[in-house]
Amino acid sequence: MDPLHDWRLTAEPHYRPQGNEVALYEAAYAARLPVMLKGPTGCGKSRFVEFMAWRLGRPLVTVACNEDMTAADLVGRFLLEPTGTRWQDGPLTLAARHGGICYLDEVVEARQDTTVVIHALTDHRRCLPLDKKGELVRAHPDFQLVISYNPGYQSLMKDLKPSTRQRFTAFDFDYPPPALEAQVLVAESGLDAALAARLVEIAQAARRLKGHGLAEGISTRLLVNAGQLIAHGVAPREAARMAMVCPITDDADIRESLDHAIDAVLG
Ligand SMILES: Nc1ncnc2c1ncn2[C@@H]1O[C@H](COP(=O)(O)OP(=O)(O)OP(=O)(O)O)[C@@H](O)[C@H]1O
Ligand SMILES: [Mg+2]
Repeated sequence: MDPLHDWRLTAEPHYRPQGNEVALYEAAYAARLPVMLKGPTGCGKSRFVEFMAWRLGRPLVTVACNEDMTAADLVGRFLLEPTGTRWQDGPLTLAARHGGICYLDEVVEARQDTTVVIHALTDHRRCLPLDKKGELVRAHPDFQLVISYNPGYQSLMKDLKPSTRQRFTAFDFDYPPPALEAQVLVAESGLDAALAARLVEIAQAARRLKGHGLAEGISTRLLVNAGQLIAHGVAPREAARMAMVCPITDDADIRESLDHAIDAVLG
């Protein structure tokens, strides 16, 4: 049985490139260099990795990192069974052993003593020591590590150590430029082009409020959500409020100015 079966992509993910990131990623993969994706929430980082994994024909093993995650959650552990103990590879080990792309999402959430397990995998050694098991896994030639994080809202306590950072090549992601973002919206929700352009205009207005009371602007993801509500019969203004404004803030003043923007653009 294929140990990475569950992580193989069966259909091509829809992804519209913003620039030459596809070619750059291919070069990084060809050199088997680890990749770091930085950018705000909902701007297309995960979609890009899914697309690249599909394009390169590699399974994608995704791990959502959090602060409770331990090294064992990544590399694996012994399980107690009636007949004795059995070692179970964690997602990182599975990808390294069998040649997948391992994607650690929101990696800064993980504690630093957890993230150091990737060090030997991400330099010339390309190996993963399983201390508890007494095994040194040599990474499969197809293995690659990808991490992502949002530089906006991490605290000073939560940062990657320079020794971790300096193992990666990096991409700066951001929301697509307006015309492209409207195309994404049309393709992802079936909205008509004129309405898509107007929703993007509202998102642009909200993004200008970032740092003035808004921690994050309205993401591409939220635009797609609004488009999907509209496709299901919700009136555009209501969809914009429900998908794009309510989720991002509880601040009455900011809500009011965003509501004004909605009325002005869609009214
Ligand atoms: N370039 C793009 N092509 C196609 N769809 C896109 C693109 N950019 C964003 N999207 C849409 O935006 C949604 C959110 O993107 P994605 O899940 O990749 O965000 P993310 O950057 O990984 O966010 P997070 O940091 O919260 O995980 C996708 O589901 C997709 O609908
Ligand atoms: Mg993501």
